[in-house]
Amino acid sequence: MTRPANDTLLRALLREPTDYTPLWLMRQAGRYLPEYRASRARAGSFMDLCRNADFATEVTLQPLERYALDAAILFSDILTVPDAMGLGLSFAEGEGPRFASPLRDEAAIRALEVPDMARLDYVFQAVAAIRKGLGNRVPLIGFSGSPFTLACYMIEGGGSDDFRHVKALMYSRPELLHHILDVNARTVTTYLNEQIAHGAQAVMIFDTWGGALSSAAYRSFSLEYMRRIVAGLRREHDGARVPVTLFTKGGGQWLADMADTGCDALGLDWTVAPAQARTLVGSKVALQGNMDPGALMGSANGVAAEARRVLDAFGPAPGHVFNLGHGISQHTPPDNVAVLVDIVHRHSRAQRAGLATSDGATTA
Ligand code: CP3
Repeated sequence: MTRPANDTLLRALLREPTDYTPLWLMRQAGRYLPEYRASRARAGSFMDLCRNADFATEVTLQPLERYALDAAILFSDILTVPDAMGLGLSFAEGEGPRFASPLRDEAAIRALEVPDMARLDYVFQAVAAIRKGLGNRVPLIGFSGSPFTLACYMIEGGGSDDFRHVKALMYSRPELLHHILDVNARTVTTYLNEQIAHGAQAVMIFDTWGGALSSAAYRSFSLEYMRRIVAGLRREHDGARVPVTLFTKGGGQWLADMADTGCDALGLDWTVAPAQARTLVGSKVALQGNMDPGALMGSANGVAAEARRVLDAFGPAPGHVFNLGHGISQHTPPDNVAVLVDIVHRHSRAQRAGLATSDGATTA
């Protein structure tokens, strides 16, 4: 068993006591870092970074070289999966993702199959290369999109603000949407198990668009398929438990049901009050989040104050991983991330030592 020298993240995800609150940031390797933009220019494009294990390793490690983050996250994208299914992914400069062949008719939907994992081998090679490049520093998080969030891109053919093709299908031919979700869930289960086999030490499922659903639709079209994935994941590898985190953006009202899937942790966006989330899930799961990514646009003092407020709202009990409520903005000043990492580590240590004052200031 090769436990990382810093295993604070893994402990917190399993609700074990830690000396401080570990943190990582969604999209921590990305455009707000000038060294990332330079690597992308050298590689040619975003997908060239993802498809080359050396580049993927280089950019995964960039934020860790600047900041004392407690985890690395695989540099890749959730849309590699529908790309491997043959939908033809491209990222146009300055625009979002596009699929050349979105799922728009019954024949295309019926033809959808779990892809040969060899088509995603570049992702598994990246996982192995990143583990090697990390040495034993911090754990590596693997990830996938949720079946529903992947289906949104597969049906709309790109981003959307109303999901009208998805909703049209849901409210006219629900069995066809269920077919897509079933294929996606089986694919994601295998995909994440391969990431784990290649060295991912924790995994996270991003359900970015589950929050666009009614409560009833969320349960049957998103949560049920994430539950099947959790049930099919390999939870132990190399002698260590592999924690699973679910994150539905806009899903604060469903946390109790999410906690019943058997996952280890839930991601919270910034609209959720931590104490309320804890009441909803009891001691079943760890919680990850949930600072507004917009707070990183403030002054250094503003960043520190908001980070302390978030830590105080979660309290010093085991089972909190500090993160943002969604991905870091490309417009974030890198210096503010340094302020954030430092204050989260210092303030959470002080909280545990009983030295954080009630107005949120750290006396240590
Ligand atoms: O967190 C990390 O640092 C790991 C890498 C990661 C990326 N995408 C890299 C990326 C992860 C975990 C993702 C997940 C992802 N991708 C999600 C779920 C999380 C979320 O943000 O809601 C979604 C919905 C996608 C799909 C996606 N990828 C979109 C809509 C876009 C375009 C919008 C944008 O922010 O550019 C991407 C591109 C993308 N994925 C970039 C990065 C670093 C930017 C590409 C570039 O360099 O231009």
